[in-house]
Amino acid sequence: MCGIVGAVAQRNVVPVLLEGLQRLEYRGYDSAGLVVVDDAKLKRLRSTGRVAELIQISAGTEGRLGIAHTRWATHGIPSERNAHPHLSKDLIAVVHNGIIENYETLRGRLTRAGYEFTSDTDTEVIAHLVHSHYVSGMPLLRALQLSLTELVGAYAIGVIAADNPDLLVCARRGSPLLLGIGIGENFIASDVSALLPVTNKVVYLEEGDVVEISRQGYQIYNAAGVETTRPVQVSEISNESVQLGNYRHYMQKEIHEQPEAISNTLESACNSQSIMPGIFGAEAEASFANVDSLLILACGTSYHAGLVARYWLEEIAGVQCTVEIASEYRYRASVPNPRALVVVLSQSGETADTQAALSHAKSLGHIYSLAICNVPESALVRQTKLRFLTRAGPEIGVASTKAFTTQLVALFLLTLVLAKQRNRLTAECEQQHLHALRHLPAATQKVLDLEPKIEKLAERFASKHHALFLGRGLHYPIALEGALKLKEISYIHAEAYPAGELKHGPLALVDKDMPVISVAPNDALLEKLKSNLHEVRARGGELYVFADANTHIQEEDGVHIMHMPEHAGYLSPILHTIPLQLLAYYVALQKGTDVDKPRNLAKSVTVE
Ligand code: M6R
Repeated sequence: MCGIVGAVAQRNVVPVLLEGLQRLEYRGYDSAGLVVVDDAKLKRLRSTGRVAELIQISAGTEGRLGIAHTRWATHGIPSERNAHPHLSKDLIAVVHNGIIENYETLRGRLTRAGYEFTSDTDTEVIAHLVHSHYVSGMPLLRALQLSLTELVGAYAIGVIAADNPDLLVCARRGSPLLLGIGIGENFIASDVSALLPVTNKVVYLEEGDVVEISRQGYQIYNAAGVETTRPVQVSEISNESVQLGNYRHYMQKEIHEQPEAISNTLESACNSQSIMPGIFGAEAEASFANVDSLLILACGTSYHAGLVARYWLEEIAGVQCTVEIASEYRYRASVPNPRALVVVLSQSGETADTQAALSHAKSLGHIYSLAICNVPESALVRQTKLRFLTRAGPEIGVASTKAFTTQLVALFLLTLVLAKQRNRLTAECEQQHLHALRHLPAATQKVLDLEPKIEKLAERFASKHHALFLGRGLHYPIALEGALKLKEISYIHAEAYPAGELKHGPLALVDKDMPVISVAPNDALLEKLKSNLHEVRARGGELYVFADANTHIQEEDGVHIMHMPEHAGYLSPILHTIPLQLLAYYVALQKGTDVDKPRNLAKSVTVE
C-alpha cells in the first residue's frame, strides 16, 4: 500500500527518495510524488504512472531535504491532483499513509477558515492543519503535535516546511514508520527495504510517537509528549535479499526460494531431537497448558494457512480450532472464550484488519496470543505475548508464496507442540514427524522440478475466463489458495470448492470451457474425490489433476495429469501448493499481466 520515504542530508536527496520509492513499489501503488526544499521553496513533482516516470521528470531537481510517497488510492481516484505530497500555501508539505476518518468535518472547518482544497484526499487536511498552527508561530514539531490531537484515524506522516530546510518531522499511529540513522544524514520510511542502500541502522517508532529529525540527530516524543528513546536496531534484511537476481519476477524467485525458506524456518525446531514449546516464546509452555482451544485470525492467503491448520490441530492435537477472516471477526458479536489461544497469522505483520482483530480479541478478554509472522519488527509481533517468526526472507511479490508455505510449517510445529503437551504424540510419532519435516525442503525441490511441464500446461489457460479448483479435507484450503493465486495475478475468475460440494450447485457451471483443477493427494478421501472427478468428466469438463503417485487416475481425453513426485502425509498440502503457484505464475506470464504488482492490489494492506 502507500509508501513513505524522507531524507535530510548534506547531499542531494532526490536520488535517495527515488530509489526508496522504487523499493516500495512492490507494496502496490497508483501514483507517486516527491517534494524537496530548494532555495526556501517547495519543489514538487507528481506522476500517475510508475516511479520510473517520476524519475524521468525529476532531472535537474535537487534539494537536501525532501519527502516522497507512493499512493494507493482510498479517498479520491488515482490522479496527479490526488497524489502526495500535499501542500498548504506552498509552505507546508505532507505525505501520509493511513486514513483520516474525520477528514470531512476538518475539511469543512478549514474551508470556512479560508483554506483552498486542491485534492479529494483525506491527507490534505493534515497539510492545512499543520499550516494553521505553524503560521501562528509554533515550531514545526509543535504544529504537527497539535494537528494530531484533531485527527481521528490511522497515520504515518512526514512533514517539511519551505522555510525550514534543516528539519523533517514525522509521526505514527496505526501505520508503520521508522527512522533510518546515517552519518550526517537521517531518513524516514514506512518499510526498511526503502532505506537499505543508505543505512541498515533503524529505529522502529511506537504508536503515538512524534519525531523531529535533522542532519545531526533526532528527538522522539511519545504519545504523552515526553521525550523518549527507542532502541537503534541493525536490520537483518540484506540489500541482496531484495534483489531480483536472475529471475524474471519476484514471484518466480520466491516460489523457488521455498526449499530454503522452509529449511530456515525449521532450523530452530529440527536441530534438536524433540520439538520444544520454547520455539514459540519463553512463556509458551505455561500458556499452552492453560489454553483449551485456538482462535486463528488472518486475511487472504494467511487465512488459508489457518484453514489447513484447523485440520491438523483438531486431528493430531485434539484441540478445537476456529479460523476467522480478520475483517469479519473484528465486527462480529462473537462469544469470547478467554481460554482460547488467539493466533494471528500474517506475512507482513502490518495488515490493518488482522491488527484490529487482535485488538478486538484482547478487548473481549482474550489473554493468550501468538503471532506467526515473517517480519520480525512488525506491529503484530510487538502486540502478542508469544511469537514465531517464519524465516522466508523478504517477500516482494504481491502474491504471497513462500510466506504461505512457511506459515504452514510453523502451524504444523504448533500442532506437534500442542499434541505432545496433551499426550497425543508418542515419541515414535514425534520422530516420524520430525523426519518428514527434515525431508520437506528436498521434497519441495522435487515439486519445483515440475516447472517446465506446468509452463506448458499454462498455455491452455490463457484464453479462459473462469476456472474451478477442487480439493477435499486438508487440501480444500489449498484449492482456495490456488484459486486466489490465479485470480490475483492472471485476472481469471477462479472459484474453489470442496469437491463434495460440486453437486450442490457449482456443477451447473461445468462445460467444455470451464477448466477444473483438482488437488488429488493419495489420502483417505481419494476414492471420494475420484467420484467427484467423474461427475465433472460426465458433464464435459476439462480436468487438470495434480495427483500423487499410486492414485491410479488415468490420463485420457479431457483428463490431464500432473504427477506429484511423492506423498508427504500430513505435510502434503505444502507440496500441493507449489504447482498451483507455478500454474498461476505461468498463466499470468501468458496473459502478460504485471505479475509482481497486479492491478488494484497492495502487498501490505495497512488500511481497512
Ligand atoms: O501480510 P498478511 O499475510 O497479513 O496479508 C494478508 C493478505 O493481504 C495477503 O495474504 C493477500 O491475500 C496476498 N496478496 C495473497 O497472495
